[in-house]
Amino acid sequence: MHRWSRKKSPFPLVALVSLGFIVCTILYHESSIRQIYRDPDQVPQKQPKITYVRPNQSARRSKAPGVLDRFSRCNSTREYSGRKIRWDEAALVSRQRRVDLERCNVFSGRWVFDNMSFPMYSESECPYMSDQLACHKHGRSDLDYQYWRWQPHHCNIKRWSVTEMWDKLRGKRLMFVGDSLNRGQWISMLCLLHSATSKDKRSITPNAPLTIFTSEEYNATVEFLWAPLLVESNSDDPVNHRLDERIIRPDSILKHAAQLEHADILVFNTYLWWRQGPVKLLWSDDRNGDCEELDGLGAMELAMETWADWVTTKLDPRKKVLFVTMSPTHLWSQEWKPGSEGNCYSERAPIDVEGHWGTGSDLPTMRMVDQVLGKLGPRVSVVNITQLSEYRKDGHPSIYRKFWETLKPEQLANPASYSDCIHWCLPGVPDVWNQLLFHFL
Ligand SMILES: *[C@@H]1O[C@H](CO)[C@@H](O)[C@H](O)[C@H]1NC(C)=O
Ligand SMILES: *[C@@H]1O[C@H](CO)[C@@H](O)[C@H](O)[C@H]1NC(C)=O
Ligand SMILES: *[C@@H]1O[C@H](CO)[C@@H](O)[C@H](O)[C@H]1NC(C)=O
Ligand SMILES: *[C@@H]1O[C@H](CO)[C@@H](O)[C@H](O)[C@H]1NC(C)=O
Ligand SMILES: *[C@@H]1O[C@H](CO)[C@@H](O)[C@H](O)[C@H]1NC(C)=O
Repeated sequence: MHRWSRKKSPFPLVALVSLGFIVCTILYHESSIRQIYRDPDQVPQKQPKITYVRPNQSARRSKAPGVLDRFSRCNSTREYSGRKIRWDEAALVSRQRRVDLERCNVFSGRWVFDNMSFPMYSESECPYMSDQLACHKHGRSDLDYQYWRWQPHHCNIKRWSVTEMWDKLRGKRLMFVGDSLNRGQWISMLCLLHSATSKDKRSITPNAPLTIFTSEEYNATVEFLWAPLLVESNSDDPVNHRLDERIIRPDSILKHAAQLEHADILVFNTYLWWRQGPVKLLWSDDRNGDCEELDGLGAMELAMETWADWVTTKLDPRKKVLFVTMSPTHLWSQEWKPGSEGNCYSERAPIDVEGHWGTGSDLPTMRMVDQVLGKLGPRVSVVNITQLSEYRKDGHPSIYRKFWETLKPEQLANPASYSDCIHWCLPGVPDVWNQLLFHFL
């Protein structure tokens, strides 16, 4: 049994639902306001008054001085004012709940060892492989992590077909938008797709916030846009960004909008960048660089709502939107092996306890994401990778990747101390995320 299965709404009547919704909205906002004051050192004095602002989707001159970059600073930082995003749910073309056309939930299942059909490509033959993800090349000798197939309980996922995928992409632009996890999925997609292209008919632009793979044969592109916080931020340069002070414009996605609008199929993710402590908010009507500070979950909620507003009010309804849910981390082996002290390092097999859930998948974040995506309904297809990836403690690079900084002797003596238990080896888990994406396209 899944412990965290989606709850059915107990009120079928429209009136009750909308009443319930109002009550829930109030409760929800109250509880998320309270979150801000969870820090025991900070005595709650007064609750900020909630005010609502519409996201700022108005066109902006391209090089306006207000565009955030890595040099942006806050002139001052004060407490969160309680401002929230009011997004335009009424603009949704289709208001009905997400209808489950599937006979079964493809996200509920188990991993099956299958060295006949997996891996779907070879690590060394993929020209787009990243040194962060090429685990075999960097010394991983146990290769079982490449051989697992995701098997839903009551049905099968559509079998991956590279020719069928190219048919779907013909004449189109597919764009992945998000952080390094999403970039891993994009690389996996290139590795899956490149076998059906010829060398002289494909090209890739140099690394930039937007990286574009082009296939002349299919007149199609597969792109990746670095936007780890979805909305405009000071971290929108994939290489030169600052991690210590994250500043976002919670009400504006404008910096990315021009690029997003060119795509036909958009695949978004966002999660881990919100999990590094408080975030600074610089609202777009600010003139003096006065920031507010808010916890990551609260800030992520503002960003998700601004994004949802952009999807409903600005994006051509013919364009497909998919959202990939949280990618779990495996930082504490005691969660699957009580009493142990390590992390994903030296793990060689998936977790086989059905419904296993670890602290790398934050439940309050999941509930917030569920709520925003729930309101978007069928406009956005959810690729719910969280539970299936949660089982794959064996799928991370750990020490088998390129590290940018030189490792110290004491680190080398204790491999778990520098293991990467966040990203995923390729071939591996993200290939299955793409198989699911293919299933839903
Ligand atoms: C697949 O795995 C089985 C069981 O581990 C093994 O006997 C077999 O040789 C493997 N086949 C290939 C092609 O690797
Ligand atoms: C390529 O695709 C674009 C749409 O993305 C279309 O406008 C154009 O006509 C196509 N070109 C050819 C040669 O098919
Ligand atoms: C929207 O953002 C632009 C650019 O930062 C700014 O000039 C404008 O005042 C903002 N509008 C509102 C209503 O906040
Ligand atoms: C910070 O304050 C100074 C002095 O008041 C001002 O010149 C500057 O533009 C402000 N910074 C921002 C980002 O608004
Ligand atoms: C994703 O799946 C989990 C169960 O694994 C469920 O609790 C959650 O509500 C799902 N999220 C979305 C957005 O569908």
